[in-house]
Amino acid sequence: MLASAWSPEARAPAGGFPKHLLAIEGLARADAEAILALGERFLAGGPMPPTLRGRAVLTAFFEASTRTRTSFEMAARGLGGQVLSLTPAVSSVTKGETLLDSVRTLEAMGADVVVVRHASSGAAEFLARKVRASVVNAGDGAHEHPTQALLDALTVRRRLGRLEGLTVAICGDVLHSRVARSGARLFALLGARVRFCGPPTLLPPAAAEAFGVEVFERLDAAVAGADVVMGLRVQRERLAGAFLPSLEDYARGWRLDRERLARLAPRALVLHPGPMNRGVEIEGALADAPESAVLEQVRAGVAVRAAVLHLLGAAGAPPS
Ligand code: CP
Repeated sequence: MLASAWSPEARAPAGGFPKHLLAIEGLARADAEAILALGERFLAGGPMPPTLRGRAVLTAFFEASTRTRTSFEMAARGLGGQVLSLTPAVSSVTKGETLLDSVRTLEAMGADVVVVRHASSGAAEFLARKVRASVVNAGDGAHEHPTQALLDALTVRRRLGRLEGLTVAICGDVLHSRVARSGARLFALLGARVRFCGPPTLLPPAAAEAFGVEVFERLDAAVAGADVVMGLRVQRERLAGAFLPSLEDYARGWRLDRERLARLAPRALVLHPGPMNRGVEIEGALADAPESAVLEQVRAGVAVRAAVLHLLGAAGAPPS
């Protein structure tokens, strides 16, 4: 188990907001609520303060991203900050430079916040121990993706008016999903009941005990009466052929579609963190249906990431 950076000793010296956002595990409910409240204001059109004026945010993405990286960069600029981007494929990483040396190099150019995505669980926490800057985890291996969970929670709260007492079914390739892990922890923290559902080969071992969720091996049972159903991407790049007979078999048993979701509670919501494999884990027509909040999730992403960067920036040292 990775240590949490939301522990008191990781708080800013003034005792305010924590210095890093590395995981939902260990996050105080008050800090989650503060992020959601500010994200809600930004999403409603409230102006972003110039918290990051004179500061720079480094986005260091060692795995592919469309939504997370661009939304952090939009958010940083909206708060008046500069953006530095490390793109490993066209950087000195290709010459053998390590993660730490790469980030320290850009920190020396003035990066005050490092937003990192990496295939290794624990990469963000590792950096947080080694660099002066604040670190935000933008997805580390199958460990956590905290800002995805926060934007999902905000999306649900805006659509359904609350989180407390809802039932959230997280379905599909749970085993490889950092979104599922962060989501389960945050929805539970905010008072929802969480279900995990997937083929036995794609469920984490001892999931019920580890995450405090109900575990289902049949999709129809998992979605019955749920207020929110989240489909997860089949992470083909991590399957290596060992977990599923074929994608066609998977789609037959596990694809979310309008017929199956007729069992949902009235006003229920469909989420997907993206990118979607249309026709595999979600029917294209469902992804585009009124009950789908996929693009609302994307919009909430900019607001939530701005809230996180603002709160980290406000808690951090003044710009040098
Ligand atoms: N949901 C998510 O993390 O999307 P990206 O991989 O496009 O950033």
